[in-house]
Amino acid sequence: MPGVTDRVVIVTGAGGGLGREYARLLAREGALVVVNDLGAARDGTGFGKAMADTVVDEIRAEGGTAVANYDSVASEEGAHALVDTAVNEFGAIHGIVNNAGILRDASFAKMDGAHWESVLRVHLFGAYHVTSAAWPHFREQGFGRVVMATSTSGLFGNFGQANYGAAKLGLVGLMNTLAIEGRKYDITVNAVAPMAATRMTADIAPADLLQKLPPAHVAPVIGHLLSAECDDTGLVLIVGGGSVQRVQLFANKPVLFPEVPTVEQVRDNWNRITDMSDAQPGVNPAG
Ligand code: NAI
Repeated sequence: MPGVTDRVVIVTGAGGGLGREYARLLAREGALVVVNDLGAARDGTGFGKAMADTVVDEIRAEGGTAVANYDSVASEEGAHALVDTAVNEFGAIHGIVNNAGILRDASFAKMDGAHWESVLRVHLFGAYHVTSAAWPHFREQGFGRVVMATSTSGLFGNFGQANYGAAKLGLVGLMNTLAIEGRKYDITVNAVAPMAATRMTADIAPADLLQKLPPAHVAPVIGHLLSAECDDTGLVLIVGGGSVQRVQLFANKPVLFPEVPTVEQVRDNWNRITDMSDAQPGVNPAG
């Protein structure tokens, strides 16, 4: 079965922005799509069915197959209800794009617990809940495709986004282990850091840059990662504006201390310890 044809795919937060593009492209490629969105504002407040319904209407108008779901991915019950929607409507679940997200930006000095928790709940717990609800189905059928929406703010840091960056790099940590555990069941787990003009970035990036970043540029990479043909797992890709690139952690050659070093010995070797000129892709020394 080529590509995503007849595959049942959940796209979370698909009522607008990037998720809408992913859902529409996947439906055009023949997937049966669950369009999840609780219709929140950018900061996660509010609820409405119109966003998800509109995208479902758009997909159906193009001849595709889609159904709406309005559950919040931030709760375990919501995530289970979402996966149940896929299974009840289409008889299976083959793929997930963990795309739902909110922003509560503040410099760390001004960030309170509510900022922190709400962002972690949607991005990190949301992806955990939905993936966890689908995982038994993936294992049983010996097939699953998961894409995490990460961010350059998590990979590299960004002022005012300590909560968001922690959640987004947390998703890469989750991916790393799921990629290992999923391998023998043909479950792949990858991450995409998109760059696109959406309501999320409207007042964050300069207008002339945003003009070059239509969300449609990101969707084909999601389509490939969800396909049966792509069995790569554990990749992190930065995608946007016609550019697709891979990011990887590198480690340099270790500096070895046969005896417990003194602070002075560490200091004396600091340039060698921090020099990345001979770095290679990093591997887990315990793994
Ligand atoms: P967006 O704000 O247009 O889309 C996010 C969607 O998630 C919204 O439709 C919202 O209603 C939905 N949502 C929020 N909380 C939810 C919940 N608890 N349950 C279900 N749905 C929920 O933003 P955009 O730009 O399309 O972002 C999509 C993803 O890509 C996010 O995870 C974002 O962090 C990530 N991202 C986007 C970048 C960009 O350049 N636009 C850059 C890096 C990452």
